[in-house]
Amino acid sequence: MTSEDIRKSFLEFFKERGHAVAPSSSLIPDDPSVLLTTAGVQQFKPYYIGKLDPMKDFGARRVASVQKCFRTTDIDEVGDKTHLTFFEMLGNFAFGDPDATDGIGAGYFKTDAIRWGYEYIVNVLGIDVSRVTVSVFHGHKEIPKDIESYRIWHKEIGLPEEKIKLAGIEDNFWGPTGNEGPCGPTTEIYVDGIEVWNIVFNEYFCDKSRDELLAGNANLKKLDGPGIDTGMGLERLVAVIKGFEDAYETDVLRPIWEKINELAPQLPDRVSRIMTDHIRSSIFLIADGVVPSNKESGYILRRLLRRVLAYQVQHDVHDDLLKSIFEVTRDKFGIFYPELKNDDILNVIEQEKIKFQTAIASGLAELKKYEKINGQEAFYLYETFGLPYEIIKELAVSDVVKDLNRKDFDNEFKKHQAISRAGVEKKFGGHGLILDTGELKASNQEEMDKVLRLHTATHLLQAAMRLVLGDEIQQKGSDITAERARFDYNFPRKPLPEEIKKIEDLVNEVIQKDLPVGFVELPKEEAAKTGALFFFKEKYPEKVKVYYIGHSLEDAFSKEFCGGPHVSHALTIGKFKIAKDESIGAGVRRIRGILDK
Ligand code: ALA
Repeated sequence: MTSEDIRKSFLEFFKERGHAVAPSSSLIPDDPSVLLTTAGVQQFKPYYIGKLDPMKDFGARRVASVQKCFRTTDIDEVGDKTHLTFFEMLGNFAFGDPDATDGIGAGYFKTDAIRWGYEYIVNVLGIDVSRVTVSVFHGHKEIPKDIESYRIWHKEIGLPEEKIKLAGIEDNFWGPTGNEGPCGPTTEIYVDGIEVWNIVFNEYFCDKSRDELLAGNANLKKLDGPGIDTGMGLERLVAVIKGFEDAYETDVLRPIWEKINELAPQLPDRVSRIMTDHIRSSIFLIADGVVPSNKESGYILRRLLRRVLAYQVQHDVHDDLLKSIFEVTRDKFGIFYPELKNDDILNVIEQEKIKFQTAIASGLAELKKYEKINGQEAFYLYETFGLPYEIIKELAVSDVVKDLNRKDFDNEFKKHQAISRAGVEKKFGGHGLILDTGELKASNQEEMDKVLRLHTATHLLQAAMRLVLGDEIQQKGSDITAERARFDYNFPRKPLPEEIKKIEDLVNEVIQKDLPVGFVELPKEEAAKTGALFFFKEKYPEKVKVYYIGHSLEDAFSKEFCGGPHVSHALTIGKFKIAKDESIGAGVRRIRGILDK
């Protein structure tokens, strides 16, 4: 079985059992408390807590998906045979009441989840029962032991007791992701001793993060209707089925790995594996709208790409390698993930390459001056020349970087962020918002009126852009004068003239509706939950204003964290026009809007 067969058979199997098939969501989650999507369940979190209705969105209480995931936890491990940053997760999910009888799409719980998991592994994948073992949650403090799952495995499926292992909260209790969310005990399926499938029984809502839960500081509340969340890593599964120890031997990674080895046979295995993983991950991240930058997901992408570029320099790898690998990746995954069929991905990579090449020459010259380097000095090289930690560690003579470790480097990074945050807060009057009054430039009342109109128009513009171009659009910067509003955003290609027109029309349509502009002041956590957009999330004070344009916060056309001020009614804006849209860097564009009258 190839990875294509497995994706297909998995979705088919669950479709036959009443599941709707949901496409993978973006790697950039719709959840401000997490940076990147790390599990299939991410896009479904709201369905477990009754915030969204699965019947309305999927026509079923059961869904199956193949989800693009990215995890940074093991990034330093990549290079061995098994660790990856990007991977695909097969998953089946059920939301709500297991006793629901609303025909196709009733929820289900332990019996079905376990039975189907077992059937798929044994009957569809054809894995011999003798290779299968499982684990079950043995309880933790007030959370009881999962006797029911044990019974199902033992009595209904017939697994002998020695094949059922009991484990605690660290291993057999999943979630929540982010600051809070659904979570619950798990049962895991192992093949040849390797964990392949994690089946989560979402029974609880946890009001804090997983770390807090493990530290005993969180509260668990029973969910009204328990749910199912499962996850099975595709790459690992293919390897297990084929009996490969090495994930890079599977049909998922092999085409890329082989191409790299063909174009650069001089690379040590560890390096060609890192390059395989990092290039594939970068391509998927860029396809979802991440652009290299110095913060958050943009910084993760920059690290991946620059590490690859540094290896190219170090091992004298031909310049065309990235282009070839992009083509191989697109051909292999483009059928399932059409967002990869976009040549602008290559442009983003090329532009980062140019930036890196300029930086690296001077950075390496500077690095040579050190006999020993510590975290602070490494951070200086990063800040001044753009040399990421990995590159310093890899390209310097080993004696020079002997004492350098990631923790010291990261601490410097954090210190630096805190300092620049304080600076921004001072400059922008406490909110750290580019669009706060500090950034609205006017010298008299007449100008101020125009600035306010353009400020509100910019909020409408961002909301309209997200509707037309996709909700991966994020503000990268903004500047407003009486003459024009400037809005910088991430997008990997030039928007089509029709798209620009649609955005402009949409803004004017909303203006014509004369929606009121209002705000609420909320603790920042709650404000984030309203779905309001924000910018540089850590820079906000404990309480923030959410400005919304609409009759209520819930049904507003636009919601943003913002210090104001704004016009009070949309019609005051008058007619809005998009004057220009241009690229200002790798995957970053600048759009300018003016008042037509
Ligand atoms: N959400 C669970 C996991 O990621 C299935 O393992």
